[in-house]
Amino acid sequence: MKIAIIGAGGRLGAAFAREYSRDLEMTSFARSQLDLGRLNRVRSALAETKFELLVNCAALTNVDYCESHREEAFLVNAEGPGLLAEIANEKSANLIHFSTDYVFDGKKSDPYTEEDKAVSLSVYGESKLEGERRVLEVSSQHLVVRLSWVFGPDKPSFIDQIIQRAREDDVVTAVADKFSAPTYTIDVVSWLRLAIDKSANGILHLANNGGCSWQEWAQYAVDVCGGLGIRLKAERIGAVSLADMKNFVAQRPVHTVLSTAKFAALTGVKPRHWRDAVAEYITAHVLKK
Ligand SMILES: NC(=O)c1ccc[n+]([C@@H]2O[C@H](COP(=O)([O-])OP(=O)(O)OC[C@H]3O[C@@H](n4cnc5c(N)ncnc54)[C@H](OP(=O)(O)O)[C@@H]3O)[C@@H](O)[C@H]2O)c1
Repeated sequence: MKIAIIGAGGRLGAAFAREYSRDLEMTSFARSQLDLGRLNRVRSALAETKFELLVNCAALTNVDYCESHREEAFLVNAEGPGLLAEIANEKSANLIHFSTDYVFDGKKSDPYTEEDKAVSLSVYGESKLEGERRVLEVSSQHLVVRLSWVFGPDKPSFIDQIIQRAREDDVVTAVADKFSAPTYTIDVVSWLRLAIDKSANGILHLANNGGCSWQEWAQYAVDVCGGLGIRLKAERIGAVSLADMKNFVAQRPVHTVLSTAKFAALTGVKPRHWRDAVAEYITAHVLKK
């Protein structure tokens, strides 16, 4: 299968580009090669590329930046994906487009299913929700994959920041009253192979199994580091509340664990627990640094 990856310089896009290039015919585009903020150039950037599957990992992902850059957020996160969906159609290809748990308001205590009504609290979430709508309006055969708390070896994220802070400082804290599920890029890449094999379309939730707060995630990461002999100054992660995060501009949803029951029913595979994915990530990628 011929595949093209957009946003190949990002955390998820780089993982796709590396893993899928092993056995698929792949073309990848970083932002410098294809800018979704310049819509008039997107079609020509893809004109010469042959693909049966287009994977869009590009997005404006800085939640607080989006809050004060609404137009840019909607251009990159909504109009751009809509255009990619049209181009995919013209080439008789399918599009996989990534979205986020931030499309929900986080007021539901059970895991969110694909059928739950999405109401966002932030410009980022609104723009991503509009992107979903535009992609699926072009074709119901395209696939929108919602993820939460993405981490992986290709670009630092929350877990890397926590480990770095714990190496340098005695006191490290994390938010204890916001809940979701960490999601490992390497797992997403392999789950997507299964979903593609089953011709998944519409909306699909993917995340590692189980839910936790940022503080629980951070504490577990520090515990794993300790068990592996990685020297840290802080061994306990203190708890702070979301309300204490005065530097947050955008409102964050409180509880956005995503249900992966649809994926499990489709593929017969239940995502492994986030603790297993975090332990593997630290062993494979943090220990070596
Ligand atoms: N990170 C998370 O925790 C999380 C959670 C839920 C869902 N998601 C979703 O998962 C997907 C992948 O996220 P990620 O974690 O890989 O984010 P990321 O590391 O920020 O990657 C996004 C990529 O998009 C690129 N980009 C930004 N503006 C662009 C533009 N105008 N044209 C082309 N490319 C542009 C960025 O380039 P630059 O680096 O040059 O800016 C970056 O390489 C996104 O759809 C995101 O909404 C992420």
